[in-house]
Amino acid sequence: MKITVVGAGAVGATTADNIIRRELAEEVVLLDIKEGVSEGKSLDMYQTAALLGFNTKPVGSTNDYEKTKGSDVVVITSGLPRKPGMTREELIGINAGIVKGVTENILKYSPDAIIIVVSNPMDTMTYLALKESGIAKEKLIGMGGALDSARFKTYLALAMNASPLDIHGMVIGGHGDTTMIPLTRLATYNGLPVSNFLSTDELEKVAADTMVGGATLTKLIGTSAWYAPGAATLLLVESIVRDQKRIVPCSVYLEGEYGQNDICMGVPVVLGRKGWEKIIKLELTDSEKAAFEKSAEAVRSMNGALNL
Ligand code: NAI
Repeated sequence: MKITVVGAGAVGATTADNIIRRELAEEVVLLDIKEGVSEGKSLDMYQTAALLGFNTKPVGSTNDYEKTKGSDVVVITSGLPRKPGMTREELIGINAGIVKGVTENILKYSPDAIIIVVSNPMDTMTYLALKESGIAKEKLIGMGGALDSARFKTYLALAMNASPLDIHGMVIGGHGDTTMIPLTRLATYNGLPVSNFLSTDELEKVAADTMVGGATLTKLIGTSAWYAPGAATLLLVESIVRDQKRIVPCSVYLEGEYGQNDICMGVPVVLGRKGWEKIIKLELTDSEKAAFEKSAEAVRSMNGALNL
């Protein structure tokens, strides 16, 4: 198994670090355009092997795609992150060029790779990568719902003074502050509806906090977050590499599912060795369906900016 992570910034390096600690691949390549950064961070990570006890050696590459040759899974994190006050959507101009170029280079050396897109605005970048590359839709997966769901579960746990491990919940729709849909109705605490434990007002606050979860961190830190994004990306990589068939909300190409066509948006999918293997159909209420439709409109208008 060979895994490449493009972009050795905050999210890319954290993802690569998580991958090598779990020994998910024999080879892990970390690639960046900044001279020396991926090599330096790879060496720094490898120096934790003797301390933490793992055997995978990461390899850094300054824009040399030959080193990525034959990758089974590629994670794209290259691109600008948000600064305080910015939306993910404002990143589109610069990141579209970066994601397009990176996808082309990756496929030159790894035509069969499963690609995970992290760069923002993620749903549009996933759509762009799919349209530009023409690869099978099952091999193109956008990471957003895994992170938003983790934030949702954390806010629920904090509100209930419970462990996040005991909470199940999902966020679907677009990966944007106003487009994501925390499915409060379906969230459970050890199998019981969370509405047994929290009032409607409290649940609404959890949903609202989840939706601006990224912006809250960007304001506090001064740039966008990386620990939870890196862990959420690991969840996707691990389920694919180990063929775990985890159900994770991911941005995938819809052809009629959830009433949408020709768009990448967050829906629950089964992740396994072939990529996303199946879309799980949830029975949504009328108001959830309306929220999904509104979210799709916003994602579609963002895609329109690409003139594809
Ligand atoms: P960062 O600025 O720390 O790292 C980005 C890296 O990409 C830099 O090291 C830069 O040199 C590199 N890069 C730029 N152009 C490149 C190219 N053409 N080829 C290779 N490398 C290139 O940013 P950070 O915080 O790691 O975020 C990365 C992206 O991920 C951003 O677009 C951010 O908005 C997005 N993000 C998405 C999340 C999601 O849930 N989908 C969560 C968190 C961040």
